[in-house]
Amino acid sequence: MEDLKNIIRDINDFPKKGIVFKDITTLLSDGKSFHRMIDLIAHRYIGMKIDQVVGVEARGFILGSALAYKLGTGITLVRKPGKLPFRTLRKTYDLEYGTDTLEIHEDAFVAGSRVIIADDLLATGGTMAAVVDLVRECGAEVVECTFMAELEFLEGRKRLPDGKVYSLLKF
Ligand code: PRP
Ligand code: HPA
Repeated sequence: MEDLKNIIRDINDFPKKGIVFKDITTLLSDGKSFHRMIDLIAHRYIGMKIDQVVGVEARGFILGSALAYKLGTGITLVRKPGKLPFRTLRKTYDLEYGTDTLEIHEDAFVAGSRVIIADDLLATGGTMAAVVDLVRECGAEVVECTFMAELEFLEGRKRLPDGKVYSLLKF
């Protein structure tokens, strides 16, 4: 796993002074690393009964769609405001560097669907906590929140459902 960690680079003072940003684009653009990362995460869910994958805009769409393809499910999009065309539920939340709002279609799931929520990185957990609320409000069961990478020192998983958080690469 160290090779996958090492390919992610640190960018100082992005997007604001004082933030050390983990740049995952270097992992995504390397074919072997991207494949391995998707296979390792997908393997965890093969054999579990997963009805749907949820992807969080924007970088969560990458892991989310690859996982959905591997697991043979569809992908439900959680998007930034004003992007989804049908009626939505929305939630505003705090980020490591500001605030943001996310939306989901109110008819996104068949009631009781078992879903995995995918995002690229767990930082403070604010984004994923908001998505968990939205998914549950839409009547689905969150099986696990899954990430390529986690910034453990920010303790984001404390804001998420106990025992329902997985990350492949821990920093
Ligand atoms: C980033 C990242 C996660 C979130 C993590 O998204 O992709 O969604 O922040 O931070 P948190 O755990 O502190 O909430 P961003 O809002 O920058 O959007 P993007 O994917 O569209 O670049
Ligand atoms: N890298 C990528 N996405 C992020 C980060 C980071 O360090 N912090 C919050 N979202």
